Amino acid sequence: TASLKQELEASIRAIKDYPKPGIVFRDITTLLGQPRAFRRAVDELVHPFAGNRVEKVAGIEARGFILGGAIAHQLSAGFVPIRKKGKLPHDTVRIAYSLEYGVDEMEMHRDAVTAGEKVILVDDLIATGGTAEAACRLLRQMGADIVAACFVIDLPELGGRKKLEALGVDVRTLVE
Ligand code: PRP
Ligand code: HPA
Repeated sequence: TASLKQELEASIRAIKDYPKPGIVFRDITTLLGQPRAFRRAVDELVHPFAGNRVEKVAGIEARGFILGGAIAHQLSAGFVPIRKKGKLPHDTVRIAYSLEYGVDEMEMHRDAVTAGEKVILVDDLIATGGTAEAACRLLRQMGADIVAACFVIDLPELGGRKKLEALGVDVRTLVE
């Protein structure tokens, strides 16, 4: 029987030259489409926090919404969307960030977390860590206590984990 890591690795599709030449895109839609792989990925990400008081799960658009929603449900926590600029209807905090293939800005509603709340950040993948670092800065700007940042996939050679750890954020990932 395959280990969890092997099962998850086998469920993730690699797409060459997407979205730009030279990038191998790790596509989790195949993981999400397999009931058992999806469930096991969520269970494994949640596991260390089962006994903890986690009040909010913050998910990064777009794939962090899918995983984060499932994780929030399992932890009986609220869900906070961190979105590309211009998508949220109420008062927001905004931050610019650079990523592996471009620059963008992300936003969160100002009232989405309150000072001292325990929050887990979720996304599908950490590459350079630019996206997750920006999300952590937004959350901390609103006074959140970031318990951990969770990702299915780490691309360690791009240094994202180290970038978050340098901010004092605990990082949990399932496959490299
Ligand atoms: C991907 C991925 C992370 C981010 C990781 O999203 O889902 O959010 O890039 O890269 P980084 O660690 O180098 O910042 P993408 O920017 O492709 O946006 P999308 O979810 O809207 O497709
Ligand atoms: N997959 C998904 N998101 C990403 C990737 C990838 O391979 N690289 C940078 N962001």
